[in-house]
Amino acid sequence: MTVNSAEFWDRVAPDYSKQPISDTESYARKLAATQALMRPDMQVLELGCGTGSTALEHARHVAHIDATDVSAAMIAFGREKAEDAGIDNIRFIQSGVEDFDTDGTYDMVLALNLLHLLPDRTAALAKIHRLLKPGGLFVSSTVCLAVRMWFLRPVIPVLQWIGKAPYVSFVSANNMLSEVATAGFETQEHWTHGRANSLFLIAAKVDAIG
Ligand SMILES: C[S@@+](CC[C@H](N)C(=O)[O-])C[C@H]1O[C@@H](n2cnc3c(N)ncnc32)[C@H](O)[C@@H]1O
Repeated sequence: MTVNSAEFWDRVAPDYSKQPISDTESYARKLAATQALMRPDMQVLELGCGTGSTALEHARHVAHIDATDVSAAMIAFGREKAEDAGIDNIRFIQSGVEDFDTDGTYDMVLALNLLHLLPDRTAALAKIHRLLKPGGLFVSSTVCLAVRMWFLRPVIPVLQWIGKAPYVSFVSANNMLSEVATAGFETQEHWTHGRANSLFLIAAKVDAIG
């Protein structure tokens, strides 16, 4: 069952597609760190791909990307952008993380600006672990609101009530790192940036767990 609101993300997709990258320096650093680990034969999965901008950036560095998102509108923007750019190694799939499944496994899974939006992060991390090949890489960027943006806690439910915010959880960067370890990953690199304390991490699947 998809528990997040596809309607919310469908509604905001047109504006989201026009939004410029807010922190271009950190974005470039994340792209570079990810692409340094990419290989031309890699099969990549991106969960919560939005309008596909990052998948498009990575496409020429790998063999194939399955780019998934719960929102049909986000996926439609992604398909259009890929077509315009002449990129044909991205398959856009409309699916919530909760519903996505496949017999195949991936060399790398990306979840960028997504995990804090999922009501069941533990299940999502377990799924990512299962979808990765042994030694496969998990790349994630997660807004960690618990410490610096705690004052938003009472505001978010009101915004949700009037349809102006999606589900958001308040996690700290330390908790996020320990959840990733518990799910069977060994973090190789991590750093935070920005006012919302976004945690970027690259972690390898540890075979024994998951
Ligand atoms: C903040 S946007 C991030 C998009 C993109 N990853 C980026 O970094 O620009 C969050 C995205 O996650 C998607 N999303 C939210 N809940 C989801 C779920 N349960 N499964 C899959 N995608 C989801 C939304 O539709 C939206 O496109």
